[in-house]
Amino acid sequence: MQTNIKNIHFFKKLNSTMDKAREFAKNGAPNFTVIVSEEQLEGRGRLKRVWESKKGGLYFTVILRLEDIKIKEAPLMNFAVSLALYKTIEKLFNIKAELKWPNDILIEGEKICGILSETFLKGSKIEYLNIGIGLNVNNIPNVEDKKTTSLTKLKKEKLNLKTILNEFLYEFEKLIQNLDFKKIIKEWKEKTFFLNKKVKIITFKEEIVGTVKDIDESDGSLILKENNRKIAYGDMFLC
Ligand code: BTN
Repeated sequence: MQTNIKNIHFFKKLNSTMDKAREFAKNGAPNFTVIVSEEQLEGRGRLKRVWESKKGGLYFTVILRLEDIKIKEAPLMNFAVSLALYKTIEKLFNIKAELKWPNDILIEGEKICGILSETFLKGSKIEYLNIGIGLNVNNIPNVEDKKTTSLTKLKKEKLNLKTILNEFLYEFEKLIQNLDFKKIIKEWKEKTFFLNKKVKIITFKEEIVGTVKDIDESDGSLILKENNRKIAYGDMFLC
C-alpha cells in the first residue's frame, strides 16, 4: 500500500537521524516528517547504547506532533511502532515476529529491530515526539553480546529498503489516525510470548525477577504478578 506521507527527507550519511530530526522539529517541521539515512556514524540505542548503523539497514526517525497525547502516554507510542513493524514484516515477508517489552522485535529469538523515542516538552505538554527505528535489512550487524538477525539473512536475498519504509509508514499512519492505545496494547499482547513467563529485568539501578502479568495500558509499564509491581523501563530476559 502507498503511504500518504509526503515529508520524507533522505540523507546518505548522518551522525544520527535522531539529531537531524530534532533540528528539523526545532525549525518547525510538521507532524509526520520522516528523516532517513543510508548510514549513521553515531547511531544510538536505548539505555545509552551504540546502534551499529552500516549501509544496508533501514534507519529513520519520525517526528510526531500529536496534541492529544499526555506526557505519561508517550511510551505507548513505542507499542504502536512495534505493532506497525510487526504488520509490515508479516505482510511483506510472511514472517511472524515476536514482540518483547518494552519495544524489541525478535524473529526466532533474535533481535531484528530497535526503537528509540525522545520526547520534547513545552510547559506541561508534549511539543513533539521523535521516534527512531533501526531495522536490520540488508546488513548483518556485528553485535557481540546480543543475538541479532536481519531480513536478508532470513530471506536470503537483497531487499528494497524503500518498499519496507513505505509499508511501515502506511501501517503506522493507520494506527495513528484512529489512535486507540487500549486497542494497540491488546493487539500487541497477542503477539508477545512473555505474558505469564518468569523473567529478569535489568534497569540502571537493579535486577528484578518476577512473572509477567500484564502491560499497563495507561503508560506501557510492565506489571509483575508479585505485588502487582510496575516497571517503567529496562531490558527483559526470559529466566
Ligand atoms: C535500541 O536500543 O534497541 C533502539 C535502537 C534505535 C536505533 C535507531 S536507528 C534510527 C534512529 N537513529 C538513532 O541514532 N537511533 C535510532
